Amino acid sequence: MRVAVISDIHGNLAAFEAVLADIEARHIDLVVINGDIINTGPDSLACLELAYQTGFPIVGGNHERYIRDFDRPDRPEEWGSELWKPSLWTVNQLGPERRQQLHHLAPAYEIADELLIVHASTRHDQDSLFGWTPERELHHMFPDDPPNLIIRSHNHIPQYRPWGDRLIVTTGAVGQPLDGSPWAKYTLAERTSSGWSVRHKTVPYDIDATIRRFSQSGYLEWAAPISRLYMREVLLGTHHIVPFVRLWSAWRSDEPLLSAETAVQRFLEL
Ligand SMILES: [Fe+2]
Ligand SMILES: [Fe+2]
Repeated sequence: MRVAVISDIHGNLAAFEAVLADIEARHIDLVVINGDIINTGPDSLACLELAYQTGFPIVGGNHERYIRDFDRPDRPEEWGSELWKPSLWTVNQLGPERRQQLHHLAPAYEIADELLIVHASTRHDQDSLFGWTPERELHHMFPDDPPNLIIRSHNHIPQYRPWGDRLIVTTGAVGQPLDGSPWAKYTLAERTSSGWSVRHKTVPYDIDATIRRFSQSGYLEWAAPISRLYMREVLLGTHHIVPFVRLWSAWRSDEPLLSAETAVQRFLEL
């Protein structure tokens, strides 16, 4: 049995199409779309519609939750800030009906006693797993005796994490890789007579086409300046948003009136 897990498409249609074409050329028994189909890229609606069209099982990610819950009165205050304007773009692009449908996404996909596929962890859709995450934390992230193979996503960096007899595999990202290579990534798991083996796959795609979509769609200008950072992440395959937010916050302790526009400009010149 061969299982492909694809995730973190983030509104990058060219990357999504390239990965689907790569998968089609292989003999895959099951494809699971493991969340974060939408948001931060220009083409969330097209990616979501294509995801539904495939008929593959879909597990929800934190970005589906953000867009679904974006106008809840009890939402975190920061969701109304300039940093979250890209999410407002996605909210407007999807419209109320598509956003409503996001309520029906599965929290996980499981092949009984063998394989658990979940966006971040069983505990929370925003849990990160790093090389330095202590083992005791894994028990909290994956309680209730999970199967020996866990495939998760969310960090956008392909990883293998042994955990006793278990293996936790983190997939790379299709549309917003952060592992230093901008090409699309997904993960292939194969069950043979000797057990499961897992490999990360890299798929080159037309990055320029996606970069053009940032401008052509109007997203780059509409959600500026933060959209520029997401575009740079797609172009380079490296972290921009997380270090920017940390630096901007540090800069503002000395310069409380520092605008996002100036801060992004300064960040990109570093
Ligand atoms: Fe993601
Ligand atoms: Fe995520």
